[in-house]
Amino acid sequence: MANIGVIGTGYVGLTTSVCFSKIGHKVVGFDIDKEKIHRLNSGKSIIFEEGLEDLLQEGLNSNNLFFTDDALKLKDCDFYFLCVPTPQDKDGSADLSYIFNACVILRKVAKKNASIVTKSTVPVNAWREISNYLNRSDLVIVSNPEFLREGTAINDFFNPDRIVVGSSEKLKSIEVLELYKNKVASFVITDNTSAELIKYASNSFLAMKLSFVNDITSLCEKVGANSKDVLLGFGQDKRIGDKFIKPGPGWGGSCFPKDVKALLRVSEKNSQSMELLVATVSSNEKTFARVVDKLEILLGGSLVDKKIAGLGLSFKAGTDDYRDSPAIAIIDRIVGRGAQVSAFDPVVEIKEKFNFSKSLNLIEALQDSDAIVILTEWNEFSSLDPNFVAKFVRQKIILDARNILDKDTWERSGFKFESLGNWA
Ligand code: UGA
Repeated sequence: MANIGVIGTGYVGLTTSVCFSKIGHKVVGFDIDKEKIHRLNSGKSIIFEEGLEDLLQEGLNSNNLFFTDDALKLKDCDFYFLCVPTPQDKDGSADLSYIFNACVILRKVAKKNASIVTKSTVPVNAWREISNYLNRSDLVIVSNPEFLREGTAINDFFNPDRIVVGSSEKLKSIEVLELYKNKVASFVITDNTSAELIKYASNSFLAMKLSFVNDITSLCEKVGANSKDVLLGFGQDKRIGDKFIKPGPGWGGSCFPKDVKALLRVSEKNSQSMELLVATVSSNEKTFARVVDKLEILLGGSLVDKKIAGLGLSFKAGTDDYRDSPAIAIIDRIVGRGAQVSAFDPVVEIKEKFNFSKSLNLIEALQDSDAIVILTEWNEFSSLDPNFVAKFVRQKIILDARNILDKDTWERSGFKFESLGNWA
């Protein structure tokens, strides 16, 4: 079993730490945030992710895992996984300052001949800059992008479609691959630059697929087709695939928006036009606007002074993450057209001030509303009983922007009901 240091204990770093410790490796999770370290060492997760807290406690109890803010505790590791954030910079490119700060630490403490593994999503050819910052010829960089989805990250770690490792030294890549002890997943062993590009190409393609799906869904409304059937027929062609084709209020989250923009920056810098990517972003913006237009039409043409119950704030179900959430983008536009929004989400805890009010519970959000809009596909919302909901609202109007409700059931209870693309 290997000694692994994980730098950064956010969603990627924490998942990586607990999963490697479950496999049996000795893992040290490092973070500069003392409070986080304290919480993690007492067995409390800092993010909402199914199964993570159990694995965290299991790792701590087995002594395979501990967290520290003392960089010297990293000195005996053979592998250092860089899992710090790479947020979007003002110009759309990825901000690598957290990565470079981590390099400064590793330059001093990393064990001789260790591998520095980049798991954070970094721009194509960032490994060269990382190498410069490390400034130690004995350390080899292995690019090993993560493909974890929030909400299913633990399952994705143990059952990935593929593991990608890229380095200038094939043996070092193989060593990293072997840490996963996965005999089933496909793997790609390549160079650093290609591994970095695989990550951006994957997320950008998925975003493009969703923009296309959402445009087709809207076209279904115009031509009178049923998007559920259209997408079923389309996805059954194995070359297209039936995964990741669920229409929604637009795509968002901490990865797609930032990664698509970062790939666009890379393409611009390299004079490579990627028109599909430009269209992917603008189509998504139009999807947000379309949801608001539909709501406006449902309410007779104006949102001014209407009270809207916004159900869901996270960018998808299964996570408390609301970074770049379509729900918030849409609520913002609804407020921009003169309505008041009371939003409810079963797990999100809002830290910033927004232009809507966050209700403590579902009933508070529904109370006296002129319309309801479903923005996140939480089970709490798909199991809503229209007769119960009807007791609190002012007008029986509902827009299901996640296509999770049954039209007939809601219409039978007297609701004016709309989904996306004549789905129901
Ligand atoms: C995404 C990728 O799916 C992961 O493979 C990748 O590792 C991760 O980014 C990352 O770069 O770290 P995630 O951001 O957790 O994962 O979210 P997804 O499940 O991909 O969903 C992204 C957005 O697409 C959400 O807003 C979701 O609601 C939307 N979506 C997804 C749809 O509207 N329809 C679908 O069929 C699927």
